[in-house]
Order: sequence, then structure tokens, then C-alpha cells
Amino acid sequence: MTAFDFAPLLASDLPPPAAQWTGFAKYNFIGGHNDAGHVPVAALVKAASDVLAREGRTLATYGLDSGPLGYRRLREFLAQKLKRTAGISCSGDEILITSGSLQALDLVNGILLDRGDTVIIEQATYQGALTRLSRLGVHAVGIPLDGDGMRMDALAAALDELKRRGVRPKYIYTIPTVQNPTGTILSEARRHELLRLAAAYGVPIFEDDCYADLIWDGRRPPALYAMSQHGGVIHIGSFSKSIAPALRVGYIVAAWELLARMLALKTDAGSGALEQMLLGEYCPAQFDAHVPELTRGLRKKLETLMDALNEQFGTAAEFDDPKGGIFLWVKLPDEVDTLKLFQPALAAGVAINPGAEWSTDKAYGKSRTRLCFAHPSHEAIRAGVAALAEVCRREFGVPARIANVQRAKA
Ligand SMILES: Cc1ncc(COP(=O)(O)O)c(C=O)c1O
Repeated sequence: MTAFDFAPLLASDLPPPAAQWTGFAKYNFIGGHNDAGHVPVAALVKAASDVLAREGRTLATYGLDSGPLGYRRLREFLAQKLKRTAGISCSGDEILITSGSLQALDLVNGILLDRGDTVIIEQATYQGALTRLSRLGVHAVGIPLDGDGMRMDALAAALDELKRRGVRPKYIYTIPTVQNPTGTILSEARRHELLRLAAAYGVPIFEDDCYADLIWDGRRPPALYAMSQHGGVIHIGSFSKSIAPALRVGYIVAAWELLARMLALKTDAGSGALEQMLLGEYCPAQFDAHVPELTRGLRKKLETLMDALNEQFGTAAEFDDPKGGIFLWVKLPDEVDTLKLFQPALAAGVAINPGAEWSTDKAYGKSRTRLCFAHPSHEAIRAGVAALAEVCRREFGVPARIANVQRAKA
């Protein structure tokens, strides 16, 4: 019997099929995975048991007796946390819990974007945002960054140029607080300027703050959402980076009028209940103590990574010390094409994110790579960087000197 052929029936504009998962690479520097040692497992077990014993019967209803915005205790925790840490004044009814902040990206895009629209975005940015825009047929204008985040002179020029062409961008997407992948924090002065420019050109700001808890010194500027005088900002966040990505819990802070439009697109009848209950129980008493422990561990891993790169690549690897987060954005010599380095590195057990996939400007991204240091152990970071240096030398002739030993190209 021949197998049923679905191919002629598939919808016409599907993206390419996903590759089958074959496990993580031995030295895994890709994705936004977290540090397994810092998942607060015992406390989560207790929180799950306590909340289920007390409120388990609310599982009988869609939305846990809390309505479609999500578990009320979690939204109330978020409202008070966002006030305390990011200066955001909002009630739990201005927060929508989502299935990861990826669903938040989809919902914001869903209410604002049409095919052919233009948005402004940081030149180096989150690949998940870029792939969504390209699938939606939306034009992304990239704005370069420096050590203080998105450059306001370049933003002003881009807004001016678009206005002259009669284009009103649908939003300015920014990851202002520990940017992915550069690890920069948009300074407070630039935040004021960004808000001023956005208001002057009538463009909303889409603020993605999912790394904002992971700052080494714990001090962050106020959120753009908090600083805005007249609305015009949509803020999203996530528990993926502060607790665990597999939980799939994110959120959107926006005026009810916008959340009402997003709810009409959120057709899943509510995000998963157990993970919301777990976080709603765990976070109020324990989130604040957990985060500095996590960031201390992440900072140590970053130091190991920077050390290993200095040792193995010497001056061939350039990077700035990020202000927090889980990524290092590394510039290799111009002759290295990280898209071409990807496969041979993987064959040697090292998974890296090629820079071109994390940028609106492929030439800028070509010799850059994003390395996630949160998940691999210190030993794996050292061994992985050594293996990467060997592959890079074999393929591109750099670094010529590894661990202070001069070698010829193979
Ligand atoms: C900037 C940014 N936004 C959103 C996400 C999505 O994260 P999640 O859906 O796990 O909340 C990520 C994940 O890496 C990210 O880096």
C-alpha cells in the first residue's frame, strides 16, 4: 500500500519544513537556553504542590476562574514587580499572559502588521523577530547600535527618510535592556530621545524586555513604557530567561483597548494553566532572591567564555563585555563567514549562531557570531571554544595562533 500523499494538499505559503531534532550539540552555544543548575527545582516542586492542593479545582474552568488575560495571582505579581523594577504603573488588567513572549510577538504583529508594511528594528536583533517579519512580508529597516544601544542619530535619519518617502513605520521594535545579541543597555538619555522621536513621527514603540532581570549590577533604567507620557508603547516580557524557557510563560503590558484586539487573535482559549499557577505561587516570595543567584552564575560563565576566547582566538575575536544576559556577540576577522563556519563547527560538535541570521545587514553580520554561555558547563565552554578555534583556523586560516602556538593553515 502506498502512503497517503499530503504534499499536493499543503497550504500554499508554508515556511520550509522543520529539521528533525537529533539532540543538542556537544558544545551548545545556540538558542536562549538557561543554566540548568539555576532552575529552582525544589522550590518549584513545593509551589506546584501547594497551589494545586489549594486551587486545583479551578482547572475545571478555561482560564482558571481568572478570565482570558491569565492567572490573576501571576498578573498581580507582575504588576507589582514591574512597578518596583521598571517603574511601570499598571494594573493586572493591563497584562495579558502569553505562551512565551514569542506568542506576544505574534499577537502584537497580528494586530498591527499588513503585508508590505515597514517597521524599524535594531540592526543586530533577535532572529525570531526577523523571521516573523519576513514571513509576514514586512520590510525591516535596521538601525545600527553602539555601546549605549540603538543610535538615535541613525534612527532620526531613518524616520526622516521614511517620512520623505511617505512611509509611516508601524512600530520601532527595540530590546533596550540587555539587547539580544549585543548585550547593551539603552541609556536613559537615549530612552528620552527615542520617545521624543517616536512621538514626533507618530510611530509606536514595541519594547521587548525579556532580559531586563539579568543585569550584573541589578540596576536598570526605567522601561520605555514607564517613561512614555502619552502611551504609544507596548511592553512585552518573559519568565524564560529569569526562571526557565520550557515553562513557556510570557506577557504583554498594554492599554486594555489593545489587549482587547490581541485577545480576539489569541485563539488558544488560554495559555497553559499549570505553569502560570506555578509561577504565581513561586514568584511573590522567591523571585527576588532567585535572580541575583542566577545572574552571579551567568556572570561566571561569561568570564569563562571571554577567557577561553582570549586564550584560543587572541585578538582574532573582538567583543565588548555585555552588561548582562546570556549572550556574547563576537566579531571574528573579516575573512570569516560564520554562515560557512556553521556546518564544519557543528561536525566538530560546536553549535554557534551565525551573525547574518541575527542582523538586518548581512554584510555586517557575516563575520559575527552569537554565543549563548548560559547552558554549557564551564568545562564545555572551554573545550567548545578550543574546538571552534581549530575549525575556524582549518576553514579560514584564523586564528593563526591558538593558545599562543603559531600554526599554519591546514
Ligand atoms: C528578544 C527576545 N524576545 C523574545 C524571545 C522569546 O522568548 P520566549 O518565547 O521564550 O519568552 C526571545 C528568546 O530568546 C528573545 O531573545
